[in-house]
Amino acid sequence: MTVIGLLHPGEMGAAIGRCLVGAGHTVLWDPAGRGTATASRAASAGLTAAAALPPGDRLTALVRRSDVILSVCPPHAALDVARGVADHGFTGIFTDANAISPATARRVAGLVREGGAIYVDGGIIGPPPEAPGHTRLYLSGAGAGCVRDLFAGTAVDARLAEGQEFAASALKIAYAAWTKGTAALILAVRALARAEGVEQALLAEWAMSQPALEQRSERAAGSAASKGWRWVAEMREIAASMSAAGLPTGFHEAAAEIFRRPPG
Ligand SMILES: NC(=O)c1ccc[n+]([C@@H]2O[C@H](COP(=O)([O-])OP(=O)(O)OC[C@H]3O[C@@H](n4cnc5c(N)ncnc54)[C@H](OP(=O)(O)O)[C@@H]3O)[C@@H](O)[C@H]2O)c1
Repeated sequence: MTVIGLLHPGEMGAAIGRCLVGAGHTVLWDPAGRGTATASRAASAGLTAAAALPPGDRLTALVRRSDVILSVCPPHAALDVARGVADHGFTGIFTDANAISPATARRVAGLVREGGAIYVDGGIIGPPPEAPGHTRLYLSGAGAGCVRDLFAGTAVDARLAEGQEFAASALKIAYAAWTKGTAALILAVRALARAEGVEQALLAEWAMSQPALEQRSERAAGSAASKGWRWVAEMREIAASMSAAGLPTGFHEAAAEIFRRPPG
């Protein structure tokens, strides 16, 4: 049985935490600064709120008790979460499983290593895990096998990403570059047709020649309405990754702008 600190139990984090609890581990979370939706997700997933230990705060208690800390938060918060953990002197295994570029993952690794922790890189592909076969947690770097083994027998298919130390983040970023990049593109296309007064004509043409696209654009609009705020930072992480690889950044800078706008 391993004690795992989970920062934070969002839609994905809570589902991952539930799997770990089901595998017999203790999963701690830190309520400080989090809202009521996070608290109720954590409770229903069977997670344990870290106790406030005077004179320390709840994060101190979580860091002291945890063997492993998983960071599953909005990508724009990944560095702050890692800094908080490092500042509290964490010396176990820290895994960032967020949609961040390999360069940002390297910065996260630097922060937590300075504090004395081991860094394992992570990237999640698929929906919040409920049944086996849909959600993969890619892991890379020394110590990745230890994190993979925590998920044995759960609905999370944890597997090692071959290659360089930050291969897990690179894989997630490349995957999302297509899925969310094309979602942004189809939203922009429909917005253009709407602005030009030809949206109904475009839908009629799609029905004849590209029958999958209307439904695809509806799905993209629904996802962007609920998660687009979080995808802005993710698109910027992708653009930075493209830049680091000597590739054009414009696709995903534009995608960030599409997700930044209120749904049309
Ligand atoms: N959801 C998916 O289908 C999915 C799929 C693949 C990968 N992922 C990855 O999983 C990660 C988390 O996604 P999610 O769906 O769980 O997001 P989410 O449902 O929006 O939850 C985010 C969690 O982080 C907390 N949070 C919000 N702002 C924060 C901040 N500034 N600092 C620290 N914590 C903050 C939230 O707490 P409060 O709201 O209570 O403040 C909430 O508990 C992302 O990196 C994403 O790329 C998600």
